[in-house]
Amino acid sequence: MSSLEGKVIIITGASAGIGESIAVLLARYKPKLVLAARGTTGLEFTRKQCQDAGLAANSILTLQCDVSKDDNLENLVQTTIQTFGSIYGLVNNAGYGVAGNIEQTNMKDYDGIMRVNMRAPFYLSKLCIPHLKTSKGCVINVSSIVSKTGIADLAAYSLSKAALDHFTHLLAAETGPSGVRVNSVNPGYIRTLAFQKAGLSEKQIVGIEAGPLDRVGETEDVAKLVKFLLSDESSYITGETICVDGGRANPVFS
Ligand SMILES: NC(=O)c1ccc[n+]([C@@H]2O[C@H](COP(=O)([O-])OP(=O)(O)OC[C@H]3O[C@@H](n4cnc5c(N)ncnc54)[C@H](O)[C@@H]3O)[C@@H](O)[C@H]2O)c1
Repeated sequence: MSSLEGKVIIITGASAGIGESIAVLLARYKPKLVLAARGTTGLEFTRKQCQDAGLAANSILTLQCDVSKDDNLENLVQTTIQTFGSIYGLVNNAGYGVAGNIEQTNMKDYDGIMRVNMRAPFYLSKLCIPHLKTSKGCVINVSSIVSKTGIADLAAYSLSKAALDHFTHLLAAETGPSGVRVNSVNPGYIRTLAFQKAGLSEKQIVGIEAGPLDRVGETEDVAKLVKFLLSDESSYITGETICVDGGRANPVFS
């Protein structure tokens, strides 16, 4: 039996990309999944894939949730408790960036990025902490290697992910004595629509300097690490920010 069987796990940004992949991989281990995102079409597609992977329909809750809105986050936690009665895992995955260095970044974009990438994980984690303490659960923050390396032309995004890593450290220290583990996964270049949204072509994606392993990452590469960090197999790991990047952030490589 999997250590995740029957455990209630919330995933934000579950309608696409890495969040979708995390949901579909976890579905194999029979948890109860709460899939949150802004768009219902993508959410329903993720739900279908989870069911195809063997998860019962009544073990999946899909919820429309814009993580930039406090009342949406409050509703997410309340509805999860009303439906499933507990929370074991929170995967703070929703996030985005806008190209621009410090001079080019307008403050509306700055505020939007900070709100989704940092404020939302902070508030949602805060709302979940009482339930996570009861379940001895876990928080996983989906950060990025740019938290460590920075990208000058993704200034606000880089800052938001650096702050998110420090949030992982702080929350792990605060909640560890209550049996709650908090870790961050820091992807490198992962093939998702995020590239297209940032205006990159398939040719450019393949051409990206991929790191010592010389390939762009796939969403499943990240999902496998998230599954490990949620499971009992990682029960002595907390406060870590772990790169899944084919070695891209290795200072020897760069
Ligand atoms: N793709 C990469 O190369 C890469 C690298 C490092 C980190 N990441 C991080 O991985 C996470 C997932 O990104 P992805 O590559 O799957 O991108 P994606 O654009 O495919 O998916 C992002 C998800 O977040 C959701 N989202 C964005 N704003 C939201 C909001 N306000 N409320 C609710 N949901 C919202 C989107 O709807 C989507 O479901 C992000 O935090 C991103 O920063 C991605």
